[in-house]
Amino acid sequence: MTGIFDSGCGGLSVLKEMLKALPGESYVYFSDNAHCPYGEKTPEYILERGRVITRLLMDKGCDLIVVACNTATAAAIAGLRAEFPQIPFVGMEPAIKPAAAVTKSGVVGVLATAGTLGGEKYHTTRDRYAEGVKVVEQVGKGFVELVEKGCLEGPEAEKVVRESVRPLVEEGADTLVLGCTHYPFLAPVILKVAKELCPGRAFTLIDPAPAVARRFVQLRSQPAGQQPIASRHPAGRQPAHQPASLQVELLSSGDDASLRRLYASLLA
Ligand code: DGL
Repeated sequence: MTGIFDSGCGGLSVLKEMLKALPGESYVYFSDNAHCPYGEKTPEYILERGRVITRLLMDKGCDLIVVACNTATAAAIAGLRAEFPQIPFVGMEPAIKPAAAVTKSGVVGVLATAGTLGGEKYHTTRDRYAEGVKVVEQVGKGFVELVEKGCLEGPEAEKVVRESVRPLVEEGADTLVLGCTHYPFLAPVILKVAKELCPGRAFTLIDPAPAVARRFVQLRSQPAGQQPIASRHPAGRQPAHQPASLQVELLSSGDDASLRRLYASLLA
């Protein structure tokens, strides 16, 4: 059983890719929406939330945990790995490398939370992979709140999104990294706004979720001896192309209405 958590429903964008990649798996998704957003919280606070959620997911029988949150990955994954060595953790990667590979303008725009952009992992990745391209960053101010309340399109969403996308477009970015798992839900609005701001430019959005899902499948496909004991399937693990037997349990620390709504729309 695989656990997956985020500060809210953003991690569903990662769960969606995991379901495509490994539909035969059972999943428990935890939305920590009573403590959302994580973006401006201290690393200590986020690590403590990570501990509480990890214990809860372990009690549910999870033997692998995907931290489907860039902010929590930056703040807490190293601490969680040290404190729970029996659990493999998969975290989010800042997708600078694929963005640098596709940009034609030579300018990559990164949208993420303040916590992610201030983290060491982000800076190391940018220094390693952004050679030869200019990287400009913006906090997606108000994006998480939009997604949590289910406002994914329309004038209000466009107004909020425009504020953060405009500086990136003005700097010449043609490739925008979605550095927070909530942001893929706003991808159509981000693209619409970017095109309105610069009609002649072709924009590409980069979502790291498919790469994270591939890493998850890789871990799950390791030979039985290298897998966590509880994940060994008596009849062998089902390959990804097997028919879906969806088992997803949704949990949240706050009101779960928007989580359930968004999840239902993902599967529609
Ligand atoms: N979905 C999150 C991320 O990927 C957290 C956003 C927040 O709670 O501020 O960073």
